[in-house]
Amino acid sequence: MTTNIQTAVNQLAEHVGQVVTLRGWVYKMRSSGKIAFIILRDGTGLCQCVFEKNEQTESIFGDVKKLGQESAVEVTGEVNKEERSVGGYELKATQVKIVHGTQDYPITPKPHGIDFLMKHRHLWFRSQRQWHILRIRATVVDQIRRYYNDNGYVLIDTPIFAPAAGEGAQTLFKVDYFGDPVYLAQTGQLYVESACMAHGKVYCFGPTFRAEKSKTRRHLTEFWMVEPEIAYASLSEVIDVAEDFICSIVKRVLHDHRDDLVELGRSLEDVEAITKPFVRLTYSEAAELLRGPKAKELLENDLKQKTSRIADLEKEIVELEETAKGGGKQWQKDKAAAQAIDSREELAELQEQVTNIPHHMRLAAEFEWGSDLGGSDETIISRLHDRPTFVTHYPKGCKAFYMREDRGDERVVENFDLLAPQGFGEIIGGSAREEDLDRLLARIEEEKLPLEDYEWYVDLRRYGSVPHGGFGLGVERTVAWICGLKHIRETIPFPRMMGKVYP
Ligand code: 4AD
Repeated sequence: MTTNIQTAVNQLAEHVGQVVTLRGWVYKMRSSGKIAFIILRDGTGLCQCVFEKNEQTESIFGDVKKLGQESAVEVTGEVNKEERSVGGYELKATQVKIVHGTQDYPITPKPHGIDFLMKHRHLWFRSQRQWHILRIRATVVDQIRRYYNDNGYVLIDTPIFAPAAGEGAQTLFKVDYFGDPVYLAQTGQLYVESACMAHGKVYCFGPTFRAEKSKTRRHLTEFWMVEPEIAYASLSEVIDVAEDFICSIVKRVLHDHRDDLVELGRSLEDVEAITKPFVRLTYSEAAELLRGPKAKELLENDLKQKTSRIADLEKEIVELEETAKGGGKQWQKDKAAAQAIDSREELAELQEQVTNIPHHMRLAAEFEWGSDLGGSDETIISRLHDRPTFVTHYPKGCKAFYMREDRGDERVVENFDLLAPQGFGEIIGGSAREEDLDRLLARIEEEKLPLEDYEWYVDLRRYGSVPHGGFGLGVERTVAWICGLKHIRETIPFPRMMGKVYP
């Protein structure tokens, strides 16, 4: 005796042989004669529903066949195990209830340009790739909270309206606060520093704002950052926490999302290689590496490989475009046209990279001690390692006022950036904080910061000041790195970037 059970695609394994109802949307539809194949998407997965025309279904079959992509439907039928079907199960549908029929859904299986997709973000994230990415993001966020909650840290929610800069005045968003200017928080760090003196180990986690005027693949104007802060911790203890924390995120994603990573085309082997110990380099060692033969060789090889790929692509595009215009079958022409669009995009990207390589080579070869590592320098360092790399002890001049001066070499501070491997670049910035009152006051003066805005912060050095430190990890860069994405715009539900705030 079968009963009708309301369930979800990811629960089908428990219902083989039973009649169930799935509620979702038409992801794809194909029909021939008396049979319709609906790939149903219900938020938990995809399932093929096979719907046949017979006496019972005759009245609705015609309407079902005409359903457009993203029509909302409830499908009832018997669950069968079917290895060859997407998800491994199939529904032999006996009823389809049309909740909302749709035609002309704007995002079709054909390729679309990124501007179009970004404008349709509210719909775009129904697409499979976006679905995989945002599921992984949700797990990364959950693991961040778990890690700190399970390891004795107290959550401190820091304010979003901030009276002063935390990370450099040039990236502040100004807001009118009853006639006075305040700023959207660039960091919660100064506040968690105060809180760690009350609770020992604390963290804040929330949206962070930077008026970055850079349109790079690594910059958002609104992103999520977690910032742990630990009283009595030295730089090396903070680095150990960062290393352990990253490993816990990677392990959890590998545990929960192997299938999603594979669907995204990420090499599991590369993700599995993210294990302790990470590489540790000082800034001075990194500078040597940039000027040295390994960096040069890396870029020369790049130039060779990319130039040769460009030549191949140019030939490929001519052939594809001829096929697209030719006299073949329509599906063959469509396929060739779509591939030509992809190849053109790859070509444009490679051409830009090839133009930049000589510049990056010069920057690396002539890298001078004292300047900050640029994006291309970070890329080189991280490509020379297949594990994450901590770069420590940067020159004081390129870092924030709160970082602790190295007592053995006052030209540098006790800080670190963590560079994700294979060219991804920085995902964490952190440091030991200056705990000495006079040194901190001197740095505030040197940086010409208005002392009155930081009086409360300086107070922490007047009453029971102790060594302490922490770091900030950007969620979007971490997700992009783990998923193997080139750009971070797909790692946040509604990205905010320079010139982009819609929808
Ligand atoms: O290195 P940052 O600026 O460090 C801080 O804000 C410190 N107050 C953190 C601390 O010590 N508590 O930023 C930390 C991380 C970066 O490594 C990066 O992952 C992310 O925040 N981040 C951005 N992510 C996306 N878009 C941007 N514009 C970002 N700026 C920083």
